[in-house]
Amino acid sequence: MSDAATAVEAQGGEAAPLLEVRNIETYYGPIMAIRGVSLAVPQGKVVVVLGANGAGKTTVLKTISGVMDPQKGQVIYQGAEITRQDPNRIVARGISHVPEGREVFPFLSVRENLDMGAFLRRDREGMQEDLERVFDYFPRLAERANQQAGQLSGGEQQMLAIGRALMGRPKLLLLDEPSLGLAPLLVKEIFDIVSRINREQGVSILLVEQNANVALQVGDIGYVLEVGRIVMEDSCKALLQKDDIKEFYLGQKETGVRGKRRWKKKKLWR
Ligand SMILES: Nc1ncnc2c1ncn2[C@@H]1O[C@H](COP(=O)(O)OP(=O)(O)OP(=O)(O)O)[C@@H](O)[C@H]1O
Ligand SMILES: [Mg+2]
Repeated sequence: MSDAATAVEAQGGEAAPLLEVRNIETYYGPIMAIRGVSLAVPQGKVVVVLGANGAGKTTVLKTISGVMDPQKGQVIYQGAEITRQDPNRIVARGISHVPEGREVFPFLSVRENLDMGAFLRRDREGMQEDLERVFDYFPRLAERANQQAGQLSGGEQQMLAIGRALMGRPKLLLLDEPSLGLAPLLVKEIFDIVSRINREQGVSILLVEQNANVALQVGDIGYVLEVGRIVMEDSCKALLQKDDIKEFYLGQKETGVRGKRRWKKKKLWR
């Protein structure tokens, strides 16, 4: 933790979050996809946003990384407003976005894809160190360094997309559904590494997921996004215990008073 943050805490106040999203509204043409979302990522934490298909998870991340501009609201990072800034400038400030569906460069090698993640850097030594660290986290990428990225399996491509983001030496990593389309064992492997990156490198993480089961295991704080709005916010530990989360995201249906499964139980948050 920085001296400034320690000083704030010593005064009994809460340290300012690394990232704060304030009441953003983002549109696709006339369609309002994000309807006033606010959230915060405290320094060093893993924050999870859960949401079903179309809830607006990807749009929230794109608005933070500058790929989309909000019509209203602010994105504050390290105390400075970055709303509507150019995506390259936002990357340079230390925010790396791992997009939905990996999006690796299929005809470039694994090594070349990783180099692309460091395109804004000039410090050769630091880049070499980071490359070694990525290969240490993902040994399979080291084994396949010269192979075309398009030939990798889905799980390996996800590892490559995360590795490429790490090559920007981020302070904040935005992860868009890393579990998508992967077998459970592989999902666990990737989330274990995400958790290590957070603990060992102190990288703060904003993770959007439909897979509540794994996301709530690695997260500290969780939000539930529904049709462009945040409808719930709590510690991940508390969210794991909530009946409506269990039912709608974890697929655990409880036994009702009459010993029947309550298939039609209503969500509590609406
Ligand atoms: N290119 C687009 N043009 C028009 N509407 C869009 C576009 N992309 C997304 N939307 C709409 O915006 C809303 C939010 O989409 P978004 O992709 O952010 O959801 P998501 O939570 O990431 O969903 P998924 O889990 O399927 O990835 C949805 O209603 C979607 O239909
Ligand atoms: Mg999405």
